[in-house]
Amino acid sequence: MSQWSEQRRHDHYYKEAKKQGYRARSSFKLIQIHNRYGVFRPNDVVIDLGASPGGWSQIAADYARLIVAVDIESMQPIDKVVFVKGDITEPETINKIRNYAPRANVVLSDASPDISGHYTMDQAKSVWLCENALKIARETLIEGGVFLCKIFEESLAMLNLIIRHDHWLYQIPT
Ligand SMILES: C[S@@+](CC[C@H](N)C(=O)[O-])C[C@H]1O[C@@H](n2cnc3c(N)ncnc32)[C@H](O)[C@@H]1O
Repeated sequence: MSQWSEQRRHDHYYKEAKKQGYRARSSFKLIQIHNRYGVFRPNDVVIDLGASPGGWSQIAADYARLIVAVDIESMQPIDKVVFVKGDITEPETINKIRNYAPRANVVLSDASPDISGHYTMDQAKSVWLCENALKIARETLIEGGVFLCKIFEESLAMLNLIIRHDHWLYQIPT
């Protein structure tokens, strides 16, 4: 897709998100993924990593019983969502998550680093965040639970090695 049409697509989803009361256009991506793969079920406990401003948590809250949303940035409240302010790579944050959700049906991670423009560095940070999300998933997910993680596309080759081992990954293009 050209840069121009990519920008137009983003603008469209941005406007649509505003219109429908979603906090981020990424809400639509999660709706698409849910419609295709059936991520959420009623009564689910969901952990949403890198959750601010809350677009994914809003969608999860439409289906699930409890969402534990985690971010280093603050987030406005959402019904059914408990917010933990913290870094997902820190053990202290993981302890706080486990206090609210010792076991989870779904672990989401849309966490992404601030883009520095330094290609290799940004890739490495994205993989690092995914590895930490995967660690949290391993510690909390019930048998048959769902782990859904965003990673910079170019990083997939690296991460596949980690996740394929567990036979977990669907690759979903953005
Ligand atoms: C693309 S945004 C998430 C958007 C969100 N899923 C939504 O739909 O509104 C990525 C988020 O990852 C968060 N983040 C980056 N590094 C993090 C870390 N180490 N721990 C927790 N959150 C982190 C950022 O603060 C940012 O809010």
